[in-house]
Amino acid sequence: MKDKLKIFCCGSNCDLTQDIADVLGLDVSPLKISRFSNDNLSVQIQENVRERDVFVVQSLTTPVSEHLMEMLITMDALRSASAGRITAVIPYYSYARSDKKDAPRISITARLIADLLKTAGADRVLTMDLHSAQVHGFFSMPVDHLTAISTIADYMKNKANKENMIVVATDAGGAKRAGRFAEKLDAPIAIIDKRRLSDTEVAQGEVVGNVRGKDAVIFDDEIATGSTILETIKTLRKAGVGKIYVSAVHAVLCGEAAGRLKEAEVEEVIVTNTVAIPEEKKLSNMVILSVAPLMAEAMRRIHTGESVGALFPH
Ligand code: R5P
Repeated sequence: MKDKLKIFCCGSNCDLTQDIADVLGLDVSPLKISRFSNDNLSVQIQENVRERDVFVVQSLTTPVSEHLMEMLITMDALRSASAGRITAVIPYYSYARSDKKDAPRISITARLIADLLKTAGADRVLTMDLHSAQVHGFFSMPVDHLTAISTIADYMKNKANKENMIVVATDAGGAKRAGRFAEKLDAPIAIIDKRRLSDTEVAQGEVVGNVRGKDAVIFDDEIATGSTILETIKTLRKAGVGKIYVSAVHAVLCGEAAGRLKEAEVEEVIVTNTVAIPEEKKLSNMVILSVAPLMAEAMRRIHTGESVGALFPH
């Protein structure tokens, strides 16, 4: 495997890339990203990739356009260098919320990005916890869609008071995902009625389910501005909940999200490392679980032609 499989890091999540490479016992292969004086990006692959099975890791985090361009140019360079197969490894797929035409004259950008990846040379995609399942269908190439549900559930299983837990979905859209998480914990589920007022504001109504006196584990795909989580915490406290744990796969944490979460004084904020979290946004009660073992195993299986689905038995 050592010479046949190659991993490249595009720059947005090098710690995770290194962790994946460590699990696989490989080195991260070198590439050079630079910028011409006219602000154009340039990428040079710094070792031979001819006929190799190449994985390019890039989380589409802020600055999103920049990171996307880095990835597209890297894949184009790999294709020109005669790579045998290119897998775009996207632990966090941004734009997944732009997955429908819910206003006039807008772009379904999640599909556009899928097309761009293909045009740039991706033969397949490996990603994790897409905002909505339908985004998977936007790709006209194989997609392995992993989930960190078990990673987070396994952590929560070891918490005290498991018998008193209730899993909370922040809105109806996330109920299926939270339901699968609740199943792993053998816990009941409550769902909150949420309406998004704007990019940064949400409003919540009734809690469907009995949360009074229970320890709530909020489960969501991502924390972006933190509005959804903050509103959920408020709603749950009003409903007489006991302890509150916040969990989400992608810690996007835009703007003041980390500060707002700190003020919310919950037991723990459990996230994964699909997004590289800057030091100043790490909270003292934040638990960052690594998805590197799961991603590495999926990459190994893709390389050897074993089932990736078998990683997620029902
Ligand atoms: C929404 O549908 C998602 O599941 C998340 O709840 C949302 O993306 C979080 O965004 P924010 O933190 O900005 O409320």
